[in-house]
Amino acid sequence: MSAKSTVLIVVCFLQIYIVNGQITCERQMTVEWRVEPKPNIIKWTLRENICSDFYTECWNMDKSITGDISEEQNLHVPQICPLQLQLGDSLFISSEPSFQLLGMNLANVSKEEFINCPKTGVLEEQLIFVYQVRGLHQVNPKWLGVGTHYFAEQHHKGPQLCNKGFRLNVTVKQQLCQQAPHAPLCSGHGRCLSHVWENAYNCHCFPQYSGRFCQKFDMCSTKPCHNNASCTEISQLPGDSYQCTCPPQFSGKNCTEIVGQCQPRTYFNGNCSNVTPNTFLCERNKGFTGKKHLYFLCYNSKCELLFY
Ligand SMILES: *[C@@H]1O[C@H](CO)[C@@H](O)[C@H](O)[C@H]1NC(C)=O
Ligand SMILES: *[C@@H]1O[C@H](CO)[C@@H](O)[C@H](O)[C@H]1NC(C)=O
Ligand SMILES: *[C@@H]1O[C@H](CO)[C@@H](O)[C@H](O)[C@H]1NC(C)=O
Ligand SMILES: *[C@@H]1O[C@H](CO)[C@@H](O)[C@H](O)[C@H]1NC(C)=O
Ligand SMILES: *[C@@H]1O[C@H](CO)[C@@H](O)[C@H](O)[C@H]1NC(C)=O
Repeated sequence: MSAKSTVLIVVCFLQIYIVNGQITCERQMTVEWRVEPKPNIIKWTLRENICSDFYTECWNMDKSITGDISEEQNLHVPQICPLQLQLGDSLFISSEPSFQLLGMNLANVSKEEFINCPKTGVLEEQLIFVYQVRGLHQVNPKWLGVGTHYFAEQHHKGPQLCNKGFRLNVTVKQQLCQQAPHAPLCSGHGRCLSHVWENAYNCHCFPQYSGRFCQKFDMCSTKPCHNNASCTEISQLPGDSYQCTCPPQFSGKNCTEIVGQCQPRTYFNGNCSNVTPNTFLCERNKGFTGKKHLYFLCYNSKCELLFY
């Protein structure tokens, strides 16, 4: 088969697949960080996986709920389904034999060149492979640093296929879920997730945990403040992560202590006197038990029988 007839065949099935092919890229809106990196294979073909409409096809989103659509994102840019990788994932490009004769190569281009397709030739240092695409090739990790990368087809002969969909948007995300290099993700108290428009993976904490790495236990959820006191989380202090604001007559860490004058409590049925501002001695009324006085030592709202 001559190069010319190959071109003809290519153009034929372009027409079939571009006209009929309405592809909505498979996508999860929120993805959880995988512990193991994963290999990804992108088929460099126009027969599948080519989307055109930014939101509905390429990102599988409902336009009506996405709100503001910027001019740029509204563009109709036929492309291979945009890819999102986690840092460390590998990427392989698998080319279709019928395109190999066209002498294709892949170039790392700017966003502008991606949208408009490289008009003039690309520089040697933009070429992703030093050879032409033939079979399965791994993309060197140097092209896959954190951020969004645009790869476009650089043809040597034959038709310009970038604007038919031979271009790829690859976004590589890192995780910001570990407090220290070998610490568990989200301190083991949350999930390390990334929404499609976020540029990194971040912690989403389980109930009762907070902080960037879910490292903080939300003490207020255990209701430590008594006597109608309000509870506030304090992020600065590591051990002491909450503060109770007590109603006027209570004090102490957990607002369990009674302030100032000792207050006769009904169950004593007697009088109390302060020993210290928060500790008091209560005497139960004579005759209540028949014979003796009962003494209680009260502290932190708890009283214990001392002697009688
Ligand atoms: C890829 O292209 C972009 C845009 O031109 C450039 O900023 C980036 O440095 C290139 N990447 C590499 C690894 O050369
Ligand atoms: C490339 O993908 C990112 C998301 O990963 C998106 O924000 C960006 O708009 C896309 N660029 C183009 C030109 O479609
Ligand atoms: C306050 O409450 C916490 C949690 O319930 C408890 O561990 C702590 O000992 C209490 N502190 C005081 C001073 O009562
Ligand atoms: C706590 O506050 C609520 C309303 O603010 C009140 O109805 C309730 O009686 C209070 N409880 C105590 C033990 O003071
Ligand atoms: C408590 O105080 C009242 C009024 O001052 C007094 O009548 C009563 O005897 C006292 N009770 C005791 C046990 O001291």
